[in-house]
Amino acid sequence: MLTPVKSFLWVVVILYTFTDFSSKKDSETTIDQTQTLQKEAFYVLNTKCNFCHEEKRNRTIFTLENMNILAKTIEYQVFTTRKMPKGRKNKLSPLEEEKLKNWINSLQKP
Ligand code: HEC
Repeated sequence: MLTPVKSFLWVVVILYTFTDFSSKKDSETTIDQTQTLQKEAFYVLNTKCNFCHEEKRNRTIFTLENMNILAKTIEYQVFTTRKMPKGRKNKLSPLEEEKLKNWINSLQKP
């Protein structure tokens, strides 16, 4: 006989079996993605900007700590005025521009 108590236990067992306890919360996934975008953007800043900015004291050296605060300025110099990176030989590839854009956009989310 399937008593109400037994059927209840079966429901619990079945739910337990199909619950994915390893799945991450949405918020955690978003943080992971943002950090990955930041790291990829940092790679661009570090290889395409810092070598030159290091030469003179009054220029900013980009780090993982300061880059988010400087995002607006970087966006302005790279995408609005297109002054940076300075020098004809120092152009960013379309992929590198994409990485900077994706990182900047990820910061503008509410
Ligand atoms: C070949 C040299 C060179 C490269 C490469 C270069 N910069 Fe600059 N950058 C300068 C100089 C010189 C200045 C000082 C202002 C000027 O002369 O326009 C400057 C100023 C800046 C400034 C404003 C002042 C400051 O230091 O905060 C920003 C922002 C900036 N650069 C961002 C970048 C970014 C982002 C890249 C890489 C995508 C880059 N630069 C690559 C030479 C360079």
